[in-house]
Amino acid sequence: MTTLTILGIESSCDDTAAAIVRGHPGAADVLSSVVMGQTALHADFGGVVPEIAARAHAEKLDICVVQALEQAKLGLDDIDAVAVTAGPGLIGGVVSGVMCAKGIALARGLPLYGVNHLAGHALTPRLTDRVAYPYLMLLVSGGHCQFLIVSGPDEFRRLGGTIDDAPGEAFDKVARLIGLPQPGGPAIEVRAREGDAKRFRLPRPLLDRTGCDMSFSGLKTAVLRQRDSLLVNSTLAARDQADLAAGFQAAIVDVLAEKARRALTDYVALTQSPSICVAGGVAANMAIRDALASVAAEFGAGFIAPPLALCTDNAAMIAYAALEQKDRRAPDDMGLSARPRWPLDHSAPAMLGSGKKGAKA
Ligand code: KG4
Ligand code: ZN
Repeated sequence: MTTLTILGIESSCDDTAAAIVRGHPGAADVLSSVVMGQTALHADFGGVVPEIAARAHAEKLDICVVQALEQAKLGLDDIDAVAVTAGPGLIGGVVSGVMCAKGIALARGLPLYGVNHLAGHALTPRLTDRVAYPYLMLLVSGGHCQFLIVSGPDEFRRLGGTIDDAPGEAFDKVARLIGLPQPGGPAIEVRAREGDAKRFRLPRPLLDRTGCDMSFSGLKTAVLRQRDSLLVNSTLAARDQADLAAGFQAAIVDVLAEKARRALTDYVALTQSPSICVAGGVAANMAIRDALASVAAEFGAGFIAPPLALCTDNAAMIAYAALEQKDRRAPDDMGLSARPRWPLDHSAPAMLGSGKKGAKA
């Protein structure tokens, strides 16, 4: 089997990234992975501003590519193909990446592969842990939340997902409501350690409904109501803040754990050696990881969480997805276009929302 060296490019939300991956499907190494975040640029606006993101990507993409080559100690002559996120995502950012990739591919006569960002996340456990198909994936981030059975490089079955906010988005909004800094997830996790998760009765939305669909916006509203009842002179006491953080996190944990149980029930019959994998920034949360690991153990399944740098948005996953998919598809031509929406499983019903931060995962 020929060893291929692929340059990956990612710019679908607020991280500009380039990476180089070398190897075969199921046996590849990350030679370099450069990620330039934009958090500071959007900090004053309470969310990602698409126009600012697109301009920052256009300014940083070539610098990222040069750094990725330098860190891998390679030149463009050593690259066999260019892979780029072609969607889903904020359209201006995706266009910036696609144009950069087309320029390199055209100038160097290299094959070009437009990759689905979600496929990049979903295939990451094959890159980091060489997990065998089929495996169960929970993508859980600021813009996405879905359970997928991954049976091949382009075979994804969506078992369910959020019908409104993504969990990371809920963490960020709740942090704002209770006076904690952004990003809200890590801030809530730390504060929750000092809190009493049982003090407030917060809802576990959609647990009464069969299947794996989830909803988090009602939980956020419940936190808002509870907070309002606790405010004294517009101030939340430290104890109340900690208890709300703990109660909110416990509700998210319970929902993800119970839905994971249902997803595993559907999936375990498909394989002798089942694994549940996670990706996305929320997968950094230790309470969520511990709960998913226990649920996996109930089913005799492995639990796999890639290193955080490859769980969050990066370009190594895009390069790797192209490496997995290249034998099953033709390269794209210069007609490759950027797609704001691009569901992985075309047979699944359309989701109602995909996160106010845009289609990140
Ligand atoms: O995957 P990611 O870097 O980008 C998006 O897809 O948005 O995930 C960022 C999200 C943010 O909403 C952040 O609050 C959340 O992941 N997050 C966490 C933790 N670390 C990051 N949520 C809960 N607990 C954490 N420790
Ligand atoms: Zn993502």
